[in-house]
Amino acid sequence: MLSNLVKIKETFEKELAAVKDGAALESLRIKYLGRKSGMMNDVMQKIREVPPEQKSQYGSEANKLKGYITSKIDEAEQGLGGAQKKSADFFDVTLPGIPPVRGGYHPLELTRRMIEGIFQRLGYTIVEGPEAETDWHNFEALNFPKHHPARDMQDTFFLENDLVLRTHTSPVQIRTMEKTKPPVRIICPGRTFRCDWDITHTPNFYQVEGLMVDAGVSFADLKGTIDHFCRELFSPDTVTRFRPSYFPFVEPGAEVDIRCVKCGGKGCRVCKQTGWLEIMGAGMVHVNVLENVGYDSEIYTGFAFGMGIDRIAMLKFGIDDTRLHYENNLRYLEQFRGVC
Ligand code: PHE
Repeated sequence: MLSNLVKIKETFEKELAAVKDGAALESLRIKYLGRKSGMMNDVMQKIREVPPEQKSQYGSEANKLKGYITSKIDEAEQGLGGAQKKSADFFDVTLPGIPPVRGGYHPLELTRRMIEGIFQRLGYTIVEGPEAETDWHNFEALNFPKHHPARDMQDTFFLENDLVLRTHTSPVQIRTMEKTKPPVRIICPGRTFRCDWDITHTPNFYQVEGLMVDAGVSFADLKGTIDHFCRELFSPDTVTRFRPSYFPFVEPGAEVDIRCVKCGGKGCRVCKQTGWLEIMGAGMVHVNVLENVGYDSEIYTGFAFGMGIDRIAMLKFGIDDTRLHYENNLRYLEQFRGVC
């Protein structure tokens, strides 16, 4: 009878060694420790058949075996659980990673950075100014006569206390000249506001103003600078032309066109069959403006230019509705991912 217990122990050990998962261990437990048909149950039942002089030894050996099997199975269970836990913690460094989604600049931001980069390489400094401006900086000091249409309610958003939402970034040239002595070489990017809303105008838009003042600055410097800028921004064979125009704060004043980026000058829908695209206003700083900021106009001359970032972006990227820039449509914006 006792040898029977030894055999049970041996087979149990063999079977336990072969167990690989929780399910196999559970069937082993049922096989040996199951309440109704478990092997140890059988062993206990058999005590009755054992001759009286062996009963106590058999009983104690049988109990020991049951305790042994129970503890071995518990141990194995913990081992398996431990292994499963280990596999959850396991980190396979050879697996391919999850690539991060790359963001991109908004086309207006992209264009602003391109414009700034070109002028920074020419030695210009970037200067910013307030969006709510005084009448003096936005109009008066820039030689806007009282009757100028830009002062009209149609164009300007008026605020309280003689303030306006700046209608251009030109007031930053006044602020800079009021604070510094020549030479001045700055560009002023920023948000501007006019009361307008159609496919080429939005009430909130962006400009970059440029200003250069020193002794002996001429219109030729202006032309050379703008030519260079256009060739850098669009392409090395870009052709520019200056058309006489009027802005109160420059004299002479001009509008700058580039040969159409779409048709190369033949005439198309983009250039309205003219072969040219207007890209900015420019001119020699008006004597009154120089005097308004306390510069001696007998010694100093300067040029200024101003362009709409929205318009430059439209021409640069072939966009035909500027309102797209303000609608946050991801399908539109995602096209600029990775451009810069
Ligand atoms: N400030 C002008 C505008 O908003 C642009 C400009 C700037 C023109 C400098 C000439 C010189 O239209």
